[in-house]
Amino acid sequence: MKATLTVNKNYTVGAIDPRIYGSFIEHLGRAVYGGIYEPSHESADRDGFRQDVLSLVKRMNVPVVRYPGGNFVSGYRWEDGIGPKEQRPKRMELAWEAIETNEVGIDEFQAWAKKAGAEVMMAVNLGTRGAEDAKNLVEYCNLDTDTHYSRMRKENGFEKPFGIKVWCLGNEMDGNWQIGSKTAEEYGKLARETAKMMKLADPSIELVACGSSNYGMRTFGSWELAVLDEVYDHVDYVSMHQYYGNQKNNYYDFLSRSVHMSEFIRSVAAICDAVKAKKHSRKSLNISFDEWNVWFHSNGETYEKWQTGVSRLEDIYTFEDALLVGCMLMTLQNHADRVKMACLAQLVNVIAPIMTQTGGGAWVQTIFYPFAYASQNGRGVAMQTVCNCESYLSSDKFRTPYLEHAVIHNEERREITVFAVNRSLEEDMALDIAFENFERLQAAEHIELYADDLKAVNTAEQETVAPAAREIAPDQKTVILKKHSWNMIRYTYESKNRT
Ligand code: AHR
Repeated sequence: MKATLTVNKNYTVGAIDPRIYGSFIEHLGRAVYGGIYEPSHESADRDGFRQDVLSLVKRMNVPVVRYPGGNFVSGYRWEDGIGPKEQRPKRMELAWEAIETNEVGIDEFQAWAKKAGAEVMMAVNLGTRGAEDAKNLVEYCNLDTDTHYSRMRKENGFEKPFGIKVWCLGNEMDGNWQIGSKTAEEYGKLARETAKMMKLADPSIELVACGSSNYGMRTFGSWELAVLDEVYDHVDYVSMHQYYGNQKNNYYDFLSRSVHMSEFIRSVAAICDAVKAKKHSRKSLNISFDEWNVWFHSNGETYEKWQTGVSRLEDIYTFEDALLVGCMLMTLQNHADRVKMACLAQLVNVIAPIMTQTGGGAWVQTIFYPFAYASQNGRGVAMQTVCNCESYLSSDKFRTPYLEHAVIHNEERREITVFAVNRSLEEDMALDIAFENFERLQAAEHIELYADDLKAVNTAEQETVAPAAREIAPDQKTVILKKHSWNMIRYTYESKNRT
């Protein structure tokens, strides 16, 4: 199969906000307890954080991590997780039917995030709590005033404010599974008043309003219209969440889900613009795609209730899952003009690229690699391209090109990075890329992720799916993308190699 791409230096989609390479840690299963935090582990630092996990997180170069939920946040009392650990209450955690010990709260998590080189994206509880508690949390985290909550932070040993910039106004409030779920009108009003109080306390913060929990929600569309009608002038982003699965074991349909994701993003952007027009507003609302991933392997799992740190949602990802995750990352890159933040859900143990053995080692799943390469190399400006290649129709009528791609120009590093998946199960693809208005471009590196077996997985003992460097000549015109493979091809303005 042949495909061509044309890339012109002058035609761009927009600057990529590095925060599209964000992730998510929820108080759920072994994400916190037995994941990032395990004081008895041999690699734990004096704060109880596993260094082996931290070093894998750093390889993913995650600039922002959403916390503490997820469904968890809708019943969470943030005050339980601050101050002397021995005085913190244990609580029944209703969202995931667990016991929350509160050994880790915002005091600890912001310290962990600093070690990971990431900002915290903080969610507030709009399920069982409201505007005042959210404003108190902003004061605790961000203010230097001589007032109750900022003084409390100082007394807890944190003289300097945490400086948390991005805040989510609740989580999936449209979902009937959510503690304190609401109608769009109820949520819209509560989110608006909460936003007002939070921004009065700290006008520098950015706020994310809850969009629909996923595209399949019956209220998708009408929820966004009603909520944005209330909050448009008070928030900066609307959230999107979407997980995909391959329950029917249909490879081509599964691999077409990134095209579905792209349509979904277009729809939400159109709704934002419709509300903008209705309000005669000059402001454009952007998108925070703050939960996305493949999630289905653990569906129907059984678990022991009212425990701490038990395995939950520990999906083991196959090679084909990594192909879709790679394609979804390209979709996010190609919507750089509208999607300013995104969080791979989640980061450690729970539907995660990084896994741990409690008391043992840490290892990486198949999906770790497309993410790490995209995050490390996909910074700069997303380019518009003209692509010629064959396509297929998914069973739900999504026209899907065999080639998924994104092209990123990083002027500072003087390089162009092409991310590409060949979806074909049968044929290798000969890809010709024409670069217009770029001078002295040379191919520097071709990394490939490939497995013969689509269902291949990594384990703690064996890394079956790992990237390999392919030979590429500096002046090579045609790149071969193996059947069902993920690829990264890096070009530089100069011939020097970067390691
Ligand atoms: O990421 C797991 C769960 O998925 C989150 O808690 C929730 O927001 C979503 O439904």
